[in-house]
Amino acid sequence: MKFYKDQPGVWCLNRGWKFKETDCKDLPCGIRHDDIYDYTKAGGAKGPAELSFDDSDWKPVSLPHDWVTGKSFDAQASPNHGYKKRGTGWYRLKFRLSEEDRNQQILLEFEGLSSKAFIYINGTLCKRQFYGYNSFCVDITDMVCFAPAVNLLAVRIEADAWEGWWYEGAGIYRNVWMVKKSPVHIAYQGVYVKPEQQADGTWKLDVETEVENSFGQEREMKLEAALYLDGNKKQELPCVSGTVPGYERIRYHQSIIVKQADIWNTENPVLYEVRSVCSVTNGEQAAGPNEITSPDTSFESQDYLNTRFGFRTIRLDADTGFWLNGENMKLRGFCCHQDHAGTGVAVPYALKEYRIRRLKKLGANAYRCAHNPDPEILDICDRLGMLVMEENRTFSSDEDTLAQVRGIIRNARNHPSVILYSIFNEEPLQGTLRGGRMAGRLRRAVHEMDSTRPVLGAFNGGYLEEEGAALSLDAVGINYNPMRYDEFHRKFPNIPLVGSETASAYMVRGEYENDEERHKIASYDESCAPWGDTHRDAWRWIMERQFVAGGFIWTGFDYRGEPTPFEWPSVATFFGTYDSCGFPKEACYLYQAFWTNEPMVHLAAPWGQGSMPGEPVKVLIISNCQEVEITVNGRLVQRKPADRYQPELIHVPYESGNLKAVGFRDGKPVAEHTLTAARKAYALRIETSGTQLRGDGLDALVVNVCAVDEEGNVVSDADQTVSFEISGGAELIGTGNGDPNSHEPDTAPYRKLFHGYAQAVIRNCGLDTVYIRVTAEGLKEDSVSLPVRRIPHIPYVEEAKDTVVEGWRMYHQLLDRRPDTLFSADVNDRNSFEPIEFHGRPQSEFTGKLNKFGVYQTRLSLTENHGNRYLYFPDIKGQVWVYLNDEQAAERVLQTLGAMKVEIPAAFGKTGICTVVIRNQNTENREAGICAPVILSEDNGLTPEE
Ligand code: GAL
Repeated sequence: MKFYKDQPGVWCLNRGWKFKETDCKDLPCGIRHDDIYDYTKAGGAKGPAELSFDDSDWKPVSLPHDWVTGKSFDAQASPNHGYKKRGTGWYRLKFRLSEEDRNQQILLEFEGLSSKAFIYINGTLCKRQFYGYNSFCVDITDMVCFAPAVNLLAVRIEADAWEGWWYEGAGIYRNVWMVKKSPVHIAYQGVYVKPEQQADGTWKLDVETEVENSFGQEREMKLEAALYLDGNKKQELPCVSGTVPGYERIRYHQSIIVKQADIWNTENPVLYEVRSVCSVTNGEQAAGPNEITSPDTSFESQDYLNTRFGFRTIRLDADTGFWLNGENMKLRGFCCHQDHAGTGVAVPYALKEYRIRRLKKLGANAYRCAHNPDPEILDICDRLGMLVMEENRTFSSDEDTLAQVRGIIRNARNHPSVILYSIFNEEPLQGTLRGGRMAGRLRRAVHEMDSTRPVLGAFNGGYLEEEGAALSLDAVGINYNPMRYDEFHRKFPNIPLVGSETASAYMVRGEYENDEERHKIASYDESCAPWGDTHRDAWRWIMERQFVAGGFIWTGFDYRGEPTPFEWPSVATFFGTYDSCGFPKEACYLYQAFWTNEPMVHLAAPWGQGSMPGEPVKVLIISNCQEVEITVNGRLVQRKPADRYQPELIHVPYESGNLKAVGFRDGKPVAEHTLTAARKAYALRIETSGTQLRGDGLDALVVNVCAVDEEGNVVSDADQTVSFEISGGAELIGTGNGDPNSHEPDTAPYRKLFHGYAQAVIRNCGLDTVYIRVTAEGLKEDSVSLPVRRIPHIPYVEEAKDTVVEGWRMYHQLLDRRPDTLFSADVNDRNSFEPIEFHGRPQSEFTGKLNKFGVYQTRLSLTENHGNRYLYFPDIKGQVWVYLNDEQAAERVLQTLGAMKVEIPAAFGKTGICTVVIRNQNTENREAGICAPVILSEDNGLTPEE
């Protein structure tokens, strides 16, 4: 895989950002008439939304970025957010678009920001997004400018309020993409592929495509599409053509019968692709007002979009539960929040994949994005064969929320992994008339976009109410309360039921005793939230009822926040099956026993961890075998039948040496597990989640470290501080150890071992071989080198390092003489000087008017940096005099064409007036003026090309 957004015209916007946590406003500095007058115009937003704003002391960052990870824990902050404060911050990115982009539609796609965002392009507030978990796009086509002019994308993020009751991080915590499309193109997420199996086993494949015209000129277009498998064309769809009026979207349908298709399922997730091409066929027509008019320019264009999907059927039945491709299947699911140790919510794709692979290892086949959508997760689950309950965050049927929900569905509906849409989680209105009506409208909004998946809500009450949401939906999810499954089924025998959230059992990895004072919870599956159940009880309720389609365990991984049943100093949850790094707690082996058939046996016990000889050690025997034999140093303790759903608890008197379990099937030994009393920690050992990194700036790897004794056994009480040294083409983005009580900094290059383990997450940032070295006092170090694989060019939007001077005005008339005193317009006069931008042409006022003088003015704002500063006029025609705060700074009288460079003296300070006087003299065509945007360089070794 190159990267998951690999599509023609898609550019990555993850690099080159500057960030600062600040509550700066987008307001002007003053309140005079000229300040306010300018602010209220298109492009007039000030503060960090303005190109000339000084961000020289802001921090350079790459996305995904969660600024909360850089903060320390604070007992005054909310336990829900893991005792870290959030706040308000700004991001800025300067970039250039080329001349070729002039006739493109330019979209920005944000996959998610936490939480409330205001997005500005070139000083215009172009989007307010108050849903931190939804991806959305912003069409900036009309608001961008082209090289050498510089665009400023600024994002203000307010993250003070709560959208969820868990750790939400803050910032642009998912990817940002720029999508460039030809004028008539397939709309953003505009292809919907619907495979429907026919009675005779063949598939009817309907493809719905929205074609959009981003400019004013009506166009004829032709839409072609074909079905591909593994890059090979399988079948063509009928070509359609039509007229797309200016600024309109038209929906087209194409349909074929596919006689035989490879099926997508959880074991073998086969993905097909529909490749669509939209070609404009009347390109020669005169171009519209927004398009470059040049006799040589052909407007024939092609736009491509590849849409992945799978052939599969799903059915949710009120009596028999869930069916995939005609096979009855329990949903063996985990609920997961999105954060990971060290990285917060800024989790790279590769790390999300690492987590989902770990869940699959336990036999899971389903994933609930709790309680919010995530586009990358859908892509990963498609590829890995994981079924998804995609969940909406905000329960409401107001217009804005309906639009957001439509966006979620548009993003999800081609993904074969998605089998259920959940429109809410535990809403107090769920059992009321209001809740019922809201749910009904949301369901309708979903089905208008996709009628192939059932819509449910995750209820924690109210599901028996006839006025409530239960009867407005296709299915009901019950959170906890398994003892009410039967009652529900009796009352509503025709409504399918899913255990949308179960368990909420507590455990701390490596702990075998409860200790209220130290906030430790033992690993024997004996504790759970008052509303929850132990893992084994939760699963038994579901397993024993065919009508319950399956269950989603709360949770797959520990997450930050919600440190129930404790508060400070605990900062993370205790519910995870894995800890926050993905190191297995004993709960993992329970699910392996419940859900997998590969023979396994596992002993959960602190064998050799401080017990005195003869002292009884509590041992939980977990196995999916028929019988398990337990021995100590080869001596039989017991051999008994095993129940995979009801692990046996025994006590074994401790003695130095091995405690061993052997699992038997049909009398034959098929699995074993040995616990050895490890000796003193001797060395560190690295294990990475992969053997190389892709050199795309996006790929990431998990670096797990453990302490081992001289024989290589993991030393579970090791707690040394490990230092991570990462060099070459990777950078460290976070560290963790799975301890819910740890207050170590997320992003520091060190971490204490917790029960023998710690972790770093690294991200690719170059092409040099990555070198990882871990050290800890008193332990032998370890290191590894990993190659970085060069991959075909990833289209990145590059940061523009210099900037362009904006805000130019030109005196409303030409003069006969060079002015002696320079004009300083009255603050109430916004008309004597007219606003002007420089776009590659001289000012038409001058044409033919030889010897006339024109006056231009702007306010220059510089940074604190007092290095080499100059103005660069790439193309200026005529004789020129440049004044800075009324002092002449440069003149050009002999030459009348070409570029000009003007030094800005240190005395100028940070801000002041720049005036340019031009005389139309002996130039080609008797033309004069500033023909190209004026570049301001504050020379950090950067010189614009002359
Ligand atoms: C549920 C809720 C989850 C989480 C969980 C903890 O009520 O849906 O988000 O808070 O409880 O047990």
